[in-house]
Amino acid sequence: MTMLRGRKIIIGITGGIAAYKIPFLIRLLKKKGAEVKVVMSPSAGEFVTKLTLATLSGNAVHSDFIRDDHGSWNSHVKLGLWGDLLIMAPATANTLAKMANGNCDNLLMAVYLSARCPVMVAPAMDLDMYRHRTTRSNIALLQKDGVVVIPPGTGELASGLSGEGRMAEPGIILGNIESFFKKSLPLSGIRALVTAGPTYEPIDDVRFIGNHSSGKMGISLADALNRAGAEVTLVAGPGCPDTQTGGIHRVNVRSAEEMRKSCMKFAPAVRLIIKSAAVADLRPVHIAKGKLKKERAPAHLALEPTADILAELGKRKKKGQILIGFALESDDGIRSARAKLRRKNLDAIVLNSLQDKGAGFGTDTNKITLLTRNNKTIKFELKPKAEVAKDIVNFVIKTLGK
Ligand code: CTP
Repeated sequence: MTMLRGRKIIIGITGGIAAYKIPFLIRLLKKKGAEVKVVMSPSAGEFVTKLTLATLSGNAVHSDFIRDDHGSWNSHVKLGLWGDLLIMAPATANTLAKMANGNCDNLLMAVYLSARCPVMVAPAMDLDMYRHRTTRSNIALLQKDGVVVIPPGTGELASGLSGEGRMAEPGIILGNIESFFKKSLPLSGIRALVTAGPTYEPIDDVRFIGNHSSGKMGISLADALNRAGAEVTLVAGPGCPDTQTGGIHRVNVRSAEEMRKSCMKFAPAVRLIIKSAAVADLRPVHIAKGKLKKERAPAHLALEPTADILAELGKRKKKGQILIGFALESDDGIRSARAKLRRKNLDAIVLNSLQDKGAGFGTDTNKITLLTRNNKTIKFELKPKAEVAKDIVNFVIKTLGK
């Protein structure tokens, strides 16, 4: 799965021949869905053009404190705060020395000193420079400060010498960035199953019983869990929108029975299940073949209950598994949501009330109350569903002790 979708990465290019490989790195990062901004040291432009880098990254490339256009300044602070990661590649011996000493003689160094995000370096230089004890001690100092070093490779160098010092290949740098994000995310290593949207229960080949669920809440939850590093399987009912992040394993279903089968298939392997789908409670007993002629339509539709998927997941819950359900109630509903939590063996239930304006089906916002197994009641304000999803994910992170 890709950890990089939507991640903001600043590449700091300094003046080494390996700068010519950075356009390839930008392409790889962009293909994975990352956003890239490039800042160059003044001499980096001797090796690779701003035009190439700006075209591939889709963003303006800066190297000076002052903009050439109207004498305004390039805010190193803004740039530094923008990134989720700053990677200096290639990092020359000179730049490593400046980083180790806090020198600030160009825009890139100012960005480095302003950045609050993690920093990586991909050193590149000739072998004797790389072996030099001053370079070694500068690298050691940076590592002590938390800078992650992607070691250079060994091979032919631009000088004609052969040995250690050539910048790690773009593919290797990409792998390092991906595993870095994976390790630093709170839910990395956690598998999650999320259900979203309505289910449609067929009357005949063209008609169904359904409900107004848009699937937005479940989709936002899948995205929020994915952003937090979880490996997400999403079982989506009909009409659910696309997720915003990549790497989610999505299974589209229509009826409650299809959703049940998918859930039972994936549940045993996951640590966390969030069942936000609005499963139809009832389905027609008989499904007519083709399209029922209205003259022959029955006056009454015989209905039977669908399987309660959440209750079944509660019965089969494994040790350590966390099961979260949703409850949509037409009154304030705390009592009946608590009863549902107990009846279905849940760890928490997310209550939304139809009484609250802007909450529930179809809207872009929601107002929830989280009720926990150990009798906690946590109320949240009305917020966009993406924010509500973050609140629920933060609750999960705490529950898992992450
Ligand atoms: N749910 C389910 N399978 C069903 C019905 C509901 O898994 N056949 C799940 C939903 O995904 C949701 C939770 O149960 O997480 C609550 O759904 P809701 O319809 O509010 O609860 P019910 O148990 O159906 O209770 P009631 O209709 O009596 O309010």
